[in-house]
Amino acid sequence: MALTGLFLITFLIGHLLGNLQLITKTGEEGRRAFNEYAYFMGHNIFIKILAYVTYISILAHAILGLYLAVKNKQARPKNYAYNKPSANSGTASRNMAILGTIILVFICTHMANFWYKQKVAETVPLHTTQKTVALPVGQDPMSGQPVTGNFDITYYYTVDGKYESDYGYYAPEKAYVTIKNGQISGVHKTMEDAKRFKVENHTELIDKSTDLKSGEAAKDLHTVVMNFFGQSEQGQPTNQYALWAVILYVISMFVLMFHLWHGFASAFQSLGLNHKKYNGLISFVGKAFAIVVPLAFAIIPVMIYLNR
Ligand code: HEM
Repeated sequence: MALTGLFLITFLIGHLLGNLQLITKTGEEGRRAFNEYAYFMGHNIFIKILAYVTYISILAHAILGLYLAVKNKQARPKNYAYNKPSANSGTASRNMAILGTIILVFICTHMANFWYKQKVAETVPLHTTQKTVALPVGQDPMSGQPVTGNFDITYYYTVDGKYESDYGYYAPEKAYVTIKNGQISGVHKTMEDAKRFKVENHTELIDKSTDLKSGEAAKDLHTVVMNFFGQSEQGQPTNQYALWAVILYVISMFVLMFHLWHGFASAFQSLGLNHKKYNGLISFVGKAFAIVVPLAFAIIPVMIYLNR
């Protein structure tokens, strides 16, 4: 319990630092930073191994915790005549199993909302931005002046930090052209045909003229999280239950606070890492951690919702 608990505490620190980017960085820069971070977390081999250790730790921690709670109950099937648990243990310690179960339910729903969409269902959209560009479409027959038209050009943000334009436009000769490296590289009948890329395997940008992979598009997990907590981004519909999601996240973080309040110091004790000299310090750090970390997590959805 103690080892898995301490490992999960380190996971919480890393996860918090990554997620704080959602509120500390704004605009397109914030979106890029968070999506790059999500890509790194999903592709770095060391982090990938750590992720599996995290899943196993969550399951082991929950199963062991419930097993111990049942065993403790069986060891004392009847309540003592004088049963005053508060005399020797805190409220949090008596309710660790209940608090832990609530956190497990939170983690399951939380992973269904983000992790499942990103890693399994592949429903996270690609990181794209639209730019309206005025391009020449012909010549005014009276004045001879060039006539321009507005074209929405899609830029894919790629995992190597570049914007790749899906550049097709209506050319003066009344055809749709593909532009590559500033040169016309193809003439087509429709705008759709003139686009440079087709997307394969969810993220691969395939250059239609060569049929070769030209880049790897980043996924836009940032927009999914923002929309989930009520902020409209990239024209995607926002979650109509965003307020409820925020409230449930805040309540879950309070539950996490109580769980950590007892869990932190008791993990050190279980491992025998206690010494008269340091017990006070461990208890202080544990209690500070139990308050600061869940509070910082709770602030994230609240801020996103308030800035919508
Ligand atoms: C309230 C703020 C939080 C936000 C905005 C948030 C956001 C996210 C996102 C976007 C992912 C998906 C990452 C990916 O698949 O690339 C994720 C995964 C996950 N989250 Fe959170 N999270 C929050 C709090 C928490 C808390 C408090 C816990 C634990 C108690 C937690 C546990 C997890 C776990 C276990 C995963 C899967 C990790 C992995 O695959 O490496 N999250 N979270």
